[in-house]
Amino acid sequence: MKGKLRPVGSPVPFPRISERQELPWAALYHTEFMGSGTEALSLAVAIAIRRHSQVSTPEVIIPAYGCPDLVSAIIAQGAKPVLVDLLPNGPHMNDVGVRGATTPSTVAVVGVGFLGIPERLEELSGICREHNLLLIEDSAQCFPPASASKPHADLVVLSFGRGKPINLMGGGALLVRTDLAGQAEEAVAQYPVSVLKVGMKWLIKRLLFNLLMRRLPYYVLERMPLLGIGETSFHRLDTISRLDLPESVLQAGLRDFQRRPLIHQRYDTELAGLEAWGWKCLASDRSEMSRNDPQQPVPLLRYPVLAPSKDMRDRALAVLNSEGIGASAFYGRTLPQIEGVEAAVGGRDYPVASDFASRLLTLPTHEGVTSADVTLIGRILFSVAES
Ligand SMILES: Cc1ncc(COP(=O)(O)O)c(C=O)c1O
Repeated sequence: MKGKLRPVGSPVPFPRISERQELPWAALYHTEFMGSGTEALSLAVAIAIRRHSQVSTPEVIIPAYGCPDLVSAIIAQGAKPVLVDLLPNGPHMNDVGVRGATTPSTVAVVGVGFLGIPERLEELSGICREHNLLLIEDSAQCFPPASASKPHADLVVLSFGRGKPINLMGGGALLVRTDLAGQAEEAVAQYPVSVLKVGMKWLIKRLLFNLLMRRLPYYVLERMPLLGIGETSFHRLDTISRLDLPESVLQAGLRDFQRRPLIHQRYDTELAGLEAWGWKCLASDRSEMSRNDPQQPVPLLRYPVLAPSKDMRDRALAVLNSEGIGASAFYGRTLPQIEGVEAAVGGRDYPVASDFASRLLTLPTHEGVTSADVTLIGRILFSVAES
C-alpha cells in the first residue's frame, strides 16, 4: 500500500498577496468574518430571531440530511431546528415539505449547498417572501456562493475550515445583503472580535497540516481511532466571535481556489455509462445547471454518486478504500440518527433522506487526485455495478 488518497481537502495556501481581488459578492453583500462557519450560521439565526421578537420559541427550517453543525448553530440561539425531508435522489429539500413545516414561529429557512451543488434558492426565496422569513444560504461546501451571482439569500454562510473549498484552517464569514446590513448591526456587534495572527505558530501549523494530507501520513492518521478522522459527530457551540482575518490569508485562499483543477470533469467522462446500471452521478445535474449559467465551472468539493442500493454502495466503498482511495459515505445517516442530535430535533423518520444517506458515496476531487486514480475508481465502480 502506497498510502491513501484523502477523501477531501486542499492544502492551506501560503498567505501572500500577489494581486488583490474583489470578493465576488462585494457589490451585493457586506462581509463579516467569523470564528467558523457554525458561528456565522448562528449569527444569521440571531439576526432572523431579532426580526421576529414576538415569537417565543423561534423555529428554523433545515434539511433532514446535513451537517450536525446546523443543529448546533440553531440551538445556540435558543431556537428550534425543524427538519424537512429531501426530494428523491438528490440533496435538495422538498419545497412542499418546507411549506408544510412553516408555522407562525418560523423565522428562517436554511438552504444548504451540497459539495458544490447549490440549493434551489429561487424556489426557497419565493416561500420565504410569502411568509416573511429570512433565507439563509449555507454555502460552507460551495464556493463562490450561488447568491454572489443571484442574490436570492438574505444571509450567506461561508466556512474556511478543513475540508472546505477554501481551507484557512478555520474561520468563516457571514454575508449580509446590503439592504439588511443596518438591521443586522446590533446582532453582529454583540460578539467580540478575535484576531488571527499569522506568526510562527500559524506557519508551522500550516506546514504540518499540509504534510499530513499526503498519502502516507493520511493512511497512518486514519488508522488512529482516537482521532476519529472522517467521523461525523455533534458538538455544542459554546462561543461565538467575529474574526479579524488578515487580508493576505483570504486572498491566498481565493487565488488557490481559482487555480484548482476541475477533477469532477474527469469523473464525468470516466463514469459515463454508469447510469445505465442504475447509478446516478449527482454532479451531472450540476453540469446541466452550469450550461445555463454563463459563469465558468468551478471545482466540486467532492464528487457525489448515488448507488442503486445500500449493499452496492457499501461494496464499492469497501473496495475503493482497500485500494487506497478515500471514498466516503459522507454523513451516512440522517440528522436525527446522529448521536446527540435526536434530543434537539426529535426522532421522526425522514424516509427520502434516509434512503439518500444509505446509497450516497463521495469521491475525492482535490488537487492530489491523479488521472490514474480516476481510472482506477472508474474500473472499481463499473466492476461493482456489473457484478
Ligand atoms: C453545510 C455546513 N454548514 C456549516 C458547517 C460548519 O462549518 P465550520 O466547520 O466552519 O464550523 C459545515 C461544516 O462541515 C457544513 O458542512
